[in-house]
Amino acid sequence: MSSPKYAVICLLGLLLWSYACQYKPYSHGEIMYQNFCASCHMDDGSGLTGNIPPLAGADFLKAYPEKLPCIIRYGIADTIVVNGVSYNTPMAGVPQLTDAEITNIINYMNQAWGNDFGFVNPLEVQRILKECRTVGGGR
Ligand code: HEC
Repeated sequence: MSSPKYAVICLLGLLLWSYACQYKPYSHGEIMYQNFCASCHMDDGSGLTGNIPPLAGADFLKAYPEKLPCIIRYGIADTIVVNGVSYNTPMAGVPQLTDAEITNIINYMNQAWGNDFGFVNPLEVQRILKECRTVGGGR
């Protein structure tokens, strides 16, 4: 049973197996987060107390899932309270992100750093984004 065919099959199996072990479900959202958000909110979502609100363990994320797509696209300039601390530094939006990229970032944030804030699907995000366009902002 040492024909080359078996060797190839074994090798393929090994490749698939090692790929499966590296699979991270939110890796696209994570990359997007690191590129567009981590400079302020930090890699670990901790923010900067008093200036940049946290995303890790943030009651705001849990309480207002329907605001997130609009905040990411259009920014937010408001006085908001996150985990009992008040913030009023404006955040600029990231208009170049597609609906799908925004969905991936939200699903990453909702499940990263010990968060367990559920999932959104792209159609829901698309619907929300259409509505925030009509009111002209993410607030
Ligand atoms: C230049 C710094 C900066 C960048 C980059 C940035 N934010 Fe923010 N973000 C802020 C600030 C400051 C606030 C508070 C805004 C306010 O008080 O109105 C905020 C607020 C938020 C909030 C609501 C409060 C909370 O902590 O839950 C969310 C959600 C959020 N940002 C997500 C993101 C995501 C996702 C990205 C990347 C797409 C991002 N931010 C990029 C600075 C930033």
